[in-house]
Amino acid sequence: MRVAVTGANGLLGGEAVARLAGRHQVLALGRGPCRLAPGPYAWAAADLGDGQGVERALVDFRAEAVLHAGAATDVDGCERDPAGAWRVNVGGCEQVARACRALAARLVAVSTDYVFDGLAGPYGEEDVPNPRGAYARTKRCGEEAALLLADDVAVARVAVVYSGRPGAKATFSTQIVEKLTRGEPVKAFADQFVSPTLAANGAAMCLELLLETSFRGVIHASGATVLDRVDFARRVARRFGLSGEIIPVRTSEVKLPAPRPLRAGLKVEKIAALLREQPLPVDAAIDRFHAEWLQRRP
Ligand SMILES: NC(=O)c1ccc[n+]([C@@H]2O[C@H](COP(=O)([O-])OP(=O)(O)OC[C@H]3O[C@@H](n4cnc5c(N)ncnc54)[C@H](OP(=O)(O)O)[C@@H]3O)[C@@H](O)[C@H]2O)c1
Repeated sequence: MRVAVTGANGLLGGEAVARLAGRHQVLALGRGPCRLAPGPYAWAAADLGDGQGVERALVDFRAEAVLHAGAATDVDGCERDPAGAWRVNVGGCEQVARACRALAARLVAVSTDYVFDGLAGPYGEEDVPNPRGAYARTKRCGEEAALLLADDVAVARVAVVYSGRPGAKATFSTQIVEKLTRGEPVKAFADQFVSPTLAANGAAMCLELLLETSFRGVIHASGATVLDRVDFARRVARRFGLSGEIIPVRTSEVKLPAPRPLRAGLKVEKIAALLREQPLPVDAAIDRFHAEWLQRRP
């Protein structure tokens, strides 16, 4: 099958390409040069924000299935540049969805728990979004663009994505390990409740959803456990055998450009009932994160 992945240099997209390569004919789409390990896939540089590059690449490839994992994910960066966030997160979804409709290709568009305001999480798929801030609002509009413009489409929401894979970008999780290893304290938000999603688990769920189901509509594809970030940091530290200080802070104590949902988190019963790949409980996910980390060279 001809399968395309956008955001292929990213946490989720990179995992997806690694899983697909060798099993399908794969087009990995990203911004600029490829930063993935070499493998049996084709690479194309295309900008989600230019209104046409990604659409053209997908049509030229004659994609049969597309995992749309590319997005402007810097939440505070989006707040500073809402027009840019709109171009990439809404315009990018439009491009991908238009191509999928033209090709009769199946689409899974990845979204976020940030579509909710975080007043009453964890949230189920039937809860009504109320996004706050530019990232959240553009992601929510991207969901609608995908659902409206593509025909065979699912929106898969994930949350706080992390990976220990060699070359994967730095996240809160990798900072916990790196800072504690250096003997530095780690600050963590005690009042942010989240559903951390190991990229490998999230990518596997998204690909099964894409290639092995005909589910249409919105579904939650995060990790299985909702917890606060201090609890998460302590569990990571314990698994890595790291002692050191984890300092609880409140979100209101830190001046951040974009609002953060506090009581967020996603309910995942629906996807658990649908797929073989199960949303991982947090300690099982951290075990896999640890195993990924051990593959990194010192
Ligand atoms: N990361 C999280 O904590 C999180 C939480 C909830 C939902 N999500 C959603 O999950 C999906 C996957 O994100 P991720 O976690 O894999 O984040 P990520 O690592 O930041 O991946 C996003 C990818 O999109 C690419 N991209 C950004 N702007 C682009 C543009 N104009 N043209 C082409 N590519 C562009 C980035 O390229 P570069 O690598 O060159 O920057 C990056 O590789 C996204 O839909 C995101 O909104 C993520």
